[in-house]
Amino acid sequence: MTNSSQDKAPLLEIDRLSVDYGLKGVSLRAIDDVSFALRPGEAVGLVGESGSGKTTTAMAIAGLLSPNARVSSGVVRYRGNRLPIDDDAAMRPHRWSETSVVFQGAMNALNPVHRVMKQIAEPCVLKLGMSRSEATARARELLELVGIPADRGVAYPHELSGGMRQRVMIAMALACRPSIIIGDEPTTALDVITQAQILKLLGELRSQLNLALILITHDLSVVAESCDRVMIMYAGRIVEDGTVAEIFANPKHPYTRLLIDTIPNPANGKKIIRPIPGDPPNLISRPPGCAFHPRCPSAMGVCATEVPGLDKFGRARVACHLHRSSQEDKVAIHA
Ligand SMILES: Nc1ncnc2c1ncn2[C@@H]1O[C@H](COP(=O)(O)OP(=O)(O)O)[C@@H](O)[C@H]1O
Ligand code: SF4
Ligand SMILES: [Mg+2]
Repeated sequence: MTNSSQDKAPLLEIDRLSVDYGLKGVSLRAIDDVSFALRPGEAVGLVGESGSGKTTTAMAIAGLLSPNARVSSGVVRYRGNRLPIDDDAAMRPHRWSETSVVFQGAMNALNPVHRVMKQIAEPCVLKLGMSRSEATARARELLELVGIPADRGVAYPHELSGGMRQRVMIAMALACRPSIIIGDEPTTALDVITQAQILKLLGELRSQLNLALILITHDLSVVAESCDRVMIMYAGRIVEDGTVAEIFANPKHPYTRLLIDTIPNPANGKKIIRPIPGDPPNLISRPPGCAFHPRCPSAMGVCATEVPGLDKFGRARVACHLHRSSQEDKVAIHA
């Protein structure tokens, strides 16, 4: 393979992935038939309301699913090789060295009784087999990389600001030189200015280290600046996928349109966030057909009975009966 064809080959392929959670003897589907590919250096936003399956998707990819989760179908491939995502022990060599996750709320993820330097050095010892002094040198290098003077590594987590702690989390995620970083709401707990700084840092690291990025957020405006592509999730399924420019200029799915409407835009006087009416479905009572139909202003008869497939439109994909080739059975059920 030439270098250029290697560059075009997907780094990560998620192929028809479904994950169920076992809860009190019942199996509940959290993500359903999720497929997408990520290319080297690409930044993709995964956007949806709480409970739409974003974290489950991330955890499945990173091999960090909780014990009550079951991969009921589908595969994840990294550089063309199938990952044993449902086998904890077999995943060990892949975890953190191929795909790393930066979680929301660094205070909970960091150990309060250890200096941050030690916490960054730890994976270098355990995963890369470095000596203590090599690992400390690497931790100093990583701190500088994420914009923290190396000497601040002696601090305990509570001595750092929220933004600094999230930088430490990013340093830890980079320790084993992964080629993919998943940021799971990495800026949600931060103020707007710090949020912008962390997103800028992720962007800089991405180009400096040729990282691919999956940025998970419930806030569509976060992906506008940071991502090349965006995938919208609803009730465990991808409902729209396109470039950021396409999605913002010409959203096809009614849910995407409503999500865009929730973004305040002081430039045109829209300062108030307008929430999407109705509640997201829970796993126990997922509506039949298109799961969005009880909230959809464009719902038709067919929407309550048939799950729309994720159809391709050039390089974009949309799952909505409004955009299927057959125009039959399109009788409005909402006035
Ligand atoms: N460990 C778990 N056990 C049972 N249900 C879970 C578990 N983790 C997540 N869920 C459920 O799976 C669905 C998807 O959750 P999640 O992937 O965390 O969504 P998101 O990250 O988009 O908020 C939600 O309904 C959530 O309650
Ligand atoms: S399939 Fe129907 S209910 Fe679902 S988003 Fe499209 S129009 Fe709305
Ligand atoms: Mg989540």
